[in-house]
This record gives sequence, C-alpha cells and structure tokens, in this order.
Amino acid sequence: TTSQASTNGTFVKVNSANVRYTETAIESDYYYDKTIVSQDGSGMLSASPVKVHYQFRTKKETGKVGIMLVGWGGNNGTTITASVLANKHNVTWTTRRGVQQPNYYGSVMLASTVKLGVAEDGSDVTVPFNSLVPMVHPNEIVFGGWDISGMNLGDAMTRAQVLPYDLQRQLYDLMREYKPLPSIYYPDFIAANQSERADNVLKGSKQENLEQIRKDIRDFKANNGLDKVIVLWTANTERYADIIAGVNDTADNLLQAIASGHSEVSPSTIFAVASILEGAPFVNGSPQNTLVPGVIELSASKNCFVGGDDFKTGQTKIKSVLTEFLVNAGIKPVAITSYNHLGNNDGYNLSAPAQFRSKEISKSNVVDDMVSANHLLYKKGEHPDHTIVIKYVPSVGDSKRALDEYVSEIFMGGLSTISIYNTCEDSLLASPLILDLFMVTELMTRVEYRVDSSANWEPFHSVLSILSYMLKAPVVPPNTPVVNALSKQRAAMENIMRAFIGLPPNNDMLLEHVTK
Ligand code: NAI
Repeated sequence: TTSQASTNGTFVKVNSANVRYTETAIESDYYYDKTIVSQDGSGMLSASPVKVHYQFRTKKETGKVGIMLVGWGGNNGTTITASVLANKHNVTWTTRRGVQQPNYYGSVMLASTVKLGVAEDGSDVTVPFNSLVPMVHPNEIVFGGWDISGMNLGDAMTRAQVLPYDLQRQLYDLMREYKPLPSIYYPDFIAANQSERADNVLKGSKQENLEQIRKDIRDFKANNGLDKVIVLWTANTERYADIIAGVNDTADNLLQAIASGHSEVSPSTIFAVASILEGAPFVNGSPQNTLVPGVIELSASKNCFVGGDDFKTGQTKIKSVLTEFLVNAGIKPVAITSYNHLGNNDGYNLSAPAQFRSKEISKSNVVDDMVSANHLLYKKGEHPDHTIVIKYVPSVGDSKRALDEYVSEIFMGGLSTISIYNTCEDSLLASPLILDLFMVTELMTRVEYRVDSSANWEPFHSVLSILSYMLKAPVVPPNTPVVNALSKQRAAMENIMRAFIGLPPNNDMLLEHVTK
C-alpha cells in the first residue's frame, strides 16, 4: 500500500490499550496535559494541572494524490519537479567530485529522524519522521500547475540555472513533457519587470478566472485519477492587498468582490478561493497576504485547509533559532540587522518596492514571540531594532548571500556581536519545504478528533498552524498565538503525530538514566 511504501517497512506499531488499529484507521486515546494559571488578589500565581481527553482517528490510506504548483515554471517549481523525478527514477549525475546520488536532504519529513523511545538497554531508538504515521511519499505525487510563462518545464529548468548540467541533461526529456497551464496575471500585483515573461495568461473577468482555475483543478484530478489535490503558491511575491471592509473582510464579500471584479483581489487570493471551493487545500509559500480574512472565513466554512505564509529557508530559519537561544539564555538581543543579495528571478521581482515590502513584513515578525516571552529582558512593547535589506545582484544567480549581525546586551552592560555570513542555492533550500508542506497537509486531511467519545468526529481547524516550522510568518487560527521558535515548531509537529498514535510527548528528562 502507499502507506507502507512511504516508510521503507519501518512503519511504527504501538502496543497500548490507548491505540486501536482498524482496517482503515488508527484510533488513539490521548490525554493532553496543560496547566491553567490564575492570580489571586495578593498577586500569588496558582497553577493547576488539567488533563483533557482527546481521541484521534487517522485514516491509513493516502489514496492517489497530486500537487498543483502556482509558479510551476519558476526556480522552485522546476527544481522540485526535476528533483522528485531524479529520486523516483534514481538518476545519478557526475560532477568534478564524482557520481552524485539524488536525495531528499532538507526535508524534515524525509531526511530527519525523531526519537520513538528507548531500547531495553536504555539507548535511543530513532525513526524517520515520516514513519510515525502513514504519509505520502513524494515519489508517488503527480505534479501539475500554472505559470504566466508558458515555457515547458525542460526549458524552464534550464532557465532557472539551479541544477547541475549533467542532471538537467538527463531529465530534460521527461521535464519537457510538462507544460504549465495559463495563469492569472494582474500586472498591478507583481513587479513590472515580470511582464517580460508573461506570455501564458488567462483572459476574461475575475469571476471567469476563478471558474477557469476551479475547472483546471477538477480536470487535473479527473485526468490523473486522483483522490485529492493540494495547491501550493510558489509564484512571484505579490504586493500586499489592502484589507477593505465590504471587499475581502468576509467570505461573502470576497466572493462578491470577485464577481464584480474589484481591483484589490489578487491572483493568489483567487487561487486560494478556487482551491477551497474545489475542496483542495491551499498553501501560500510567498510572503503576501493571500489569506485575507475572507479567505480564512471561507476555508473554515468549507472545512478546507489553508496554510501560509512564506517558506522559511535560510536566514529566517537561523534567526528563529539564534534569537530563541539568546533570549532563553538570558541574553538580550538589541539589534538584528539582516542583509541579503540574490540574482534569480525572485530577486528581480523583489527589487520593486511594493513586493520588497511584502518580504520585509514577513521577515520582521519572527522574533516577536521569543521577545515577548521574556519580561525580564524586555519591557512590554519593547523590541530589538530589526532591519531587513534585500538587493538584486544578477551575477550571483540563485546563490543567495545573507549577512546577519546580532548585537546583544550581556552581563553587566557588556555587548556581544555575532555575525553570520551564509551562501546557499536558494531554490535547493526552498524546494524540500514544498514536500514537507505537502506531506503534512495531506496527513491532516486524513485526521479527525473528538474531545469526548460521544462527540462528533471533526477535522482540525482549517488554518493549519502545524505547518509553522516550514513558514516564515505562520498564519494561525483567529485568536491563536503565533509560535516562531523553530524548536517549538518542530516539537509541535512531532508531538502531534505522536498523539495520533497514542504516544506521550517526547521530553529530554532521561529519568531512566539519572535515577537509581
Ligand atoms: P521564480 O521567480 O523563479 O518563480 C516564480 C514563478 O512564478 C515564475 O516562473 C513566474 O513566471 C511565475 N508567476 C508569477 N506570477 C504568477 C501567477 N500569477 N500565476 C502563475 N505563475 C506566476 O521564484 P522562486 O525562486 O521559484 O520563488 C518563488 C516564490 O517563493 C517567491 O515569491 C519567493 O519569494 C518565495 N520564496 C522563495 C524562497 C527561496 O528560498 N527560494 C524562500 C521563501 C520564499
């Protein structure tokens, strides 16, 4: 079955009265521990442990699944498609360092492990992250998508200049078979310089565009015999859309604004709406505010998942680790200055101010939760200085450069300065995240829960905060705290998947070793 194929035979079976394996599903009883804190008149905090009983039910079969990428002909779109083909067909290639094998490095689901438990001798037993519960394997995903540039994917891969030539050469014929569907192009939303490649665009009104995208999703599903499709935006960064009462603030207003062709409805928002109306989860990998309040409301009313925003790759990933380390060590970052330059088409698009502004916003908030969690270092409302600069330097191509300086106040008024210089192929960092976002989103379409055994089974909230690890500016359900700290985000994914199989959260207490 697909589920076994995904785990190389290491699918985990749990022996516990709290777990039941049925023909089609895994059902678990799970006791969620939380601590409720209140304050009495004298200021004393009182903490009360509370247990909440959850039941989870995870369907085992993934079915046949497809991904539709918006921006398929771009650097990320071509890189991920070609890399999955290379893995699937085991295409090796030769560089001056010898023969290279395809892999899935950089995917947390496919190339990292989690601790399952301890062996009888007390040593850790770790398993691939994707073996806790049945998950789709990328080699089984059917690829499709749209691009405003009509170039076939073979030529688009060449244009991207990301993968080594000997690999491109071998994949070219397979890639050439793929051709992106025409897409929605409203020039006002992306940089003017992108008009040079916009030769594959839909005509007609916004309502007609919406209906065409819906039809594309249905056709893709039918033509490939798919059980489900997930749509992921990896097209150019758009400018922010204004949130206007009566236009995009509620689901009804948004549908009406599309029908009347309102100018503030962006292409990405139309893709999100089309996906939701087709029951296809939608994930936004770029920074703009695609998921306007009307989209969130629509996703909740249709029980269709959405997630976003903006792939969290190099600089921001490090930031969400380093700031957590500093603040949790009792050290006070006072200035974080981040500078990037890059020379790919993403950089070209971001050289326009309105598109840069979207990126600046999504990169800016990543330290907020860590700063506000430590009231010993920061007064209410106090923040470190945080500056973000992005420059377009064509000659470096996809090889992004990031320079970061962290200045922190240490013991007794001293200062510590950490500088980081990072060079990396941008699309090789982002592409595996597309797979993680896909795999976790797909898993969530198979999971239901209830809070007591008489209640109805329900899906999780339509806004998937569990995707936060992969995203720079996580969108979360209304009135839910945003977590940016990377280790917490990873622990949340791991422990939620453990809950699906009735296992307690992992902790690092090692009591079996430190007690007699
Ligand atoms: P790219 O510029 O190579 O690819 C984007 C593609 O989208 C292009 O082929 C373009 O023709 C197409 N496009 C633009 N508007 C479209 C529309 N309305 N419909 C369909 N296609 C459209 O960019 P790349 O490097 O692949 O990045 C894609 C997005 O991912 C960018 O927004 C970028 O900011 C974001 N991102 C990338 C990261 C990375 O490390 N590569 C990290 C975080 C975010």
